[in-house]
Amino acid sequence: MANWTLEKVEGLDQADPLAEKRRLFHLPEGLIYLDGNSLGPRPEGVAARLAAVVEDEWGEGLIGSWNAAKWIELPQSVGAKLAPIIGARPGEVIACDSTSVNLFKVLMAALTINKGRKKIVTEAGNFPTDNYIIRSVANLAGLECLAPPADRILEVVDAHTACLVLTHVNYRTGEFYDLEAITRKAHDKGALVIWDLSHSAGAMPLDLDRAGVDFAVGCGYKFLNGGPGAPAYLFVAEALQDKVQPVLSGWMGHARPFDFAADYEPATGIDRNLCGTPGILGMAALDAALDAFADVDLEEVRRKSMQLGDLLVDLVEDQCAEYGFNVISPHDATMRASQVSIAHPQGYAIMQALISKGVVGDYRDPEIMRFGITPLYLRFVDIWHAVQQLHKIMEAETWRRPEFSERQLVT
Ligand SMILES: Cc1ncc(COP(=O)(O)O)c(C=O)c1O
Repeated sequence: MANWTLEKVEGLDQADPLAEKRRLFHLPEGLIYLDGNSLGPRPEGVAARLAAVVEDEWGEGLIGSWNAAKWIELPQSVGAKLAPIIGARPGEVIACDSTSVNLFKVLMAALTINKGRKKIVTEAGNFPTDNYIIRSVANLAGLECLAPPADRILEVVDAHTACLVLTHVNYRTGEFYDLEAITRKAHDKGALVIWDLSHSAGAMPLDLDRAGVDFAVGCGYKFLNGGPGAPAYLFVAEALQDKVQPVLSGWMGHARPFDFAADYEPATGIDRNLCGTPGILGMAALDAALDAFADVDLEEVRRKSMQLGDLLVDLVEDQCAEYGFNVISPHDATMRASQVSIAHPQGYAIMQALISKGVVGDYRDPEIMRFGITPLYLRFVDIWHAVQQLHKIMEAETWRRPEFSERQLVT
């Protein structure tokens, strides 16, 4: 552990090659935002783009904007912007629907491709929406759903497994899987693999094509900063695209939607994974938000993310040692994605007290305070000041104020 001082921490910011990126984001004055793993802040270009869509494209252009402003192509063009962020080719990614809906679509597609196999495997601690969807699909298809703990997954993937579905980064602990190794081992048994990249896309380099991933899904509103409830995305490896039989066979995935044909004929390639009309306001916001990644080196992002995370862990363990915090994220930065999770029996109240002082993270049961590490706009001094604030709250026992224990609807 380094002997940190504010001066040393300021030195890290001065040497930071990503420091300039911070100006691309709107960050409220005085706030230290450590929740970009839940809802990214607004990139500066988004407000002007939305104003133009509302005032000009919708206000003046009306229905003509589907063609003139290329609204109809946004799912594909936004998908093409997402592709390099996840290591895919442009025609392998499409922006649409929510992550839950996209998981339903690709899982149903995988089961049709791997017909005859009897099992779907996931992880017990997977993000709840994923496991809710997986169980529903298993019921619908009459398959068995197995959800062992993370360290036993490969033991249960066998010649009867149709599909393995995992979230790359555990939302509670921030620990992440070796995506490439697991994909290969599942493929050795003939299983298809679906990854939920919600907590890794935009936070670390990914190479889905090199890893041989079959399908992937993920959120647009976390590290990608697409705005509250932004469209999600889905990836289908090129080799599988024409084997996908869409179960949500909506008109936007039809080969010629404006023929209004009586029968469904799937579009070629990734387009058949569309279902209904895209929400253009959300799609335009995500499109503009992704410009922040235009010339970003994700290796650089990852390096800074590990450094910021290490700093947070060091400072909490050093400066708040007497207050009973337990860092449950891996201490080894190479195993920790872009969040640091810290458990404390009073975690909820402590997080509310922190938020009241302008340090924003979030809380997940049981007892977990989560701090998102987002290198494009976080400074090393933000981490320093956040831990100073945490220390003050603990020392003064501010968290004991009754209002900090009142559970809000969204935690
Ligand atoms: C791993 C993961 N998957 C999915 C979701 C939510 O997906 P949806 O876009 O359907 O709300 C979240 C939300 O936090 C998530 O963390």
